[in-house]
This record gives sequence, structure tokens and C-alpha cells, in this order.
Amino acid sequence: MPMLRRQHTRAYLCLLLVLVPCCGFQHYMADEEAQLLLQIKSAWGDPPVLAEWNASASAAHCIFGRLNKLQDLDLSENNLTGHLVVDGFAAVSLKMIYLGDNNLSGIIPDFFGRLENLTDLILYNNNFCGEIPASITRLPSLSYLDLENNRFNGTLPPELGKHSLYLAGVSVGNNDLTGAIPEGLCNGGNLYSFSASSNRLNGSIPAGLANCAALIKLNLGSNQLSGQVR
Ligand SMILES: *[C@@H]1O[C@H](CO)[C@@H](O)[C@H](O)[C@H]1NC(C)=O
Ligand SMILES: *[C@@H]1O[C@H](CO)[C@@H](O)[C@H](O)[C@H]1NC(C)=O
Ligand SMILES: *[C@@H]1O[C@H](CO)[C@@H](O)[C@H](O)[C@H]1NC(C)=O
Ligand SMILES: *[C@@H]1O[C@H](CO)[C@@H](O)[C@H](O)[C@H]1NC(C)=O
Ligand SMILES: *[C@@H]1O[C@H](CO)[C@@H](O)[C@H](O)[C@H]1NC(C)=O
Ligand SMILES: *[C@@H]1O[C@H](CO)[C@@H](O)[C@H](O)[C@H]1NC(C)=O
Repeated sequence: MPMLRRQHTRAYLCLLLVLVPCCGFQHYMADEEAQLLLQIKSAWGDPPVLAEWNASASAAHCIFGRLNKLQDLDLSENNLTGHLVVDGFAAVSLKMIYLGDNNLSGIIPDFFGRLENLTDLILYNNNFCGEIPASITRLPSLSYLDLENNRFNGTLPPELGKHSLYLAGVSVGNNDLTGAIPEGLCNGGNLYSFSASSNRLNGSIPAGLANCAALIKLNLGSNQLSGQVR
């Protein structure tokens, strides 16, 4: 059974970006999944490396394993629905993830905290929910985090910015976030934009943010913040 063997091997090697039907317990249909994956292939401009990956080979989506050097993933504005399940160490080379303006749902997997070279995580205008995983605060290169217009809840991870010294832009407006603004957002001195309007953030604006010299855009409207900006 050489074919089966081969696919099993691939299953362990692959970067799996699997989009399964969203929020709930619906069964996912292999055919639907195949269609989504073929859409993704097409959105990537039908790269030759995915030539084998076609409708007649629909189950073989682990061909993504060939993309284990993948750095930039841009699937913005593709009307994609489903959960984002990035599974497997092969994805760790990712630097930029652009999935804004889709209809994706579910959580940000904790796994994203292991994408050691991730600089941009751009997920605005979707239906993502749940808490923003604290694991992403360990990303040393994180520069842009745009989670605007989703349904994230819980607090902003308290260590956001503390270990990400290149952090330059954070947009989390129009979610359902509560609690305090993280003290270390501007730890690296590079934060020029922080937008968090229309949440339920409370407490005062931390000194680390108020004293952030690089900051030129600050939007905190429609929250429950108090205190003075010095
Ligand atoms: C589809 O992929 C299979 C291998 O997965 C390959 O044998 C076949 O030639 C491909 N078909 C087309 C039309 O590219
Ligand atoms: C987006 O997908 C939905 C079904 O999931 C479909 O009804 C709608 O027409 C699509 N919109 C566009 C702009 O393709
Ligand atoms: C992260 O980037 C560094 C420097 O470019 C590189 O050496 C390393 O292999 C990358 N890590 C991964 C997991 O791709
Ligand atoms: C987005 O997905 C939900 C299901 O999660 C669906 O009910 C809704 O119609 C979709 N919206 C668009 C604009 O495709
Ligand atoms: C966030 O929302 C989810 C449902 O989407 C809920 O289970 C969870 O308890 C909420 N967490 C907080 C901190 O409100
Ligand atoms: C902020 O809101 C939380 C509940 O979401 C509450 O426990 C906390 O005491 C509030 N903090 C301030 C400073 O108002």
C-alpha cells in the first residue's frame, strides 16, 4: 500500500490550514473542505507546487506539507467561513497571517504562540470569539496585531507588549474585551497606534502607554476607562 503509507507520512509533516464549518458541532463534509482548500489554492494563484492538489485528489490536502517554508499567508477578503485550525510544527515559519475580511469563527489557537517569527496577525472583520491567547505575548517579533471587529472577550493578555519589543500597532476595537489596558504595550518604544474603542475596558490608562513617545494614534472611545492621561 505505498500510496497510503505516503499520505500518512505527509499527515505528520504537513502544515494543515484546515477550515471546518464554524461554531458548533456540525460534522464537516470532506467535499466542503476540499472545496474550501481548492479555493485557498486558487487564492494563492495556483502555485505549481500544489499542482497535484486538485478536485480528484481532494483528500490529499496534506500536500500543504510542501509549504513548510511558508512565510506569508494572505487570504483576506475571501468570504471564508469556518474555524481556523493550524496544526503542526511545519507552520512555524509563518511570519504574516492576513485573514481579515472573511467570515471565520472560533478561537485563535494557543498554537499561534509557537510561531516564533510571526510579525503580523491580522484577523479584523471576522467572527472570531473567545479569549485572546496569552501565548501570543511570547512572540518576540510581533509587530502588528489587528483583531478589530470580532467577538473576542476576556481581557487583553496582561503581558501584551512586554516581550514583543517591535510591537507597533494594536487594533482590538469593537470586541467584548474587559479589564485593564496592559501596562507594557509600549515596552519596546515602537508602539505608534493603539485602537481599542467599543469594548468594556476599565481602569486607568497605564503610564507606560501615556508616556509612549512613538504613539501617534490612540483610540479608546466607548470604554469604561477612568483617570487622567499625563
Ligand atoms: C491531480 O492530482 C493527482 C495526484 O494527487 C495527479 O495524479 C493528477 O494528475 C492531477 N490532475 C490534474 C488535472 O492535475
Ligand atoms: C459568501 O458566502 C456565502 C455563503 O457562505 C454566500 O451566500 C455569499 O453570497 C458569499 N458572498 C460573496 C461576496 O461571495
Ligand atoms: C525564524 O527566523 C530566523 C531568522 O530568519 C530563522 O533562522 C529561523 O529558521 C526561523 N524559524 C523558523 C521556525 O522558521
Ligand atoms: C457567516 O457565517 C455564518 C455562519 O457561521 C452565516 O450564518 C452567515 O450568513 C455568514 N455571513 C456571510 C456574510 O457570509
Ligand atoms: C467568552 O465567551 C465564551 C463563549 O464564546 C464563554 O464561554 C466564556 O466564558 C467567555 N469568557 C469570558 C471571560 O467572558
Ligand atoms: C474592571 O472590571 C472588572 C470586571 O470586568 C472588575 O473586576 C474590576 O474591579 C474593574 N476594575 C476597575 C479598576 O474598575
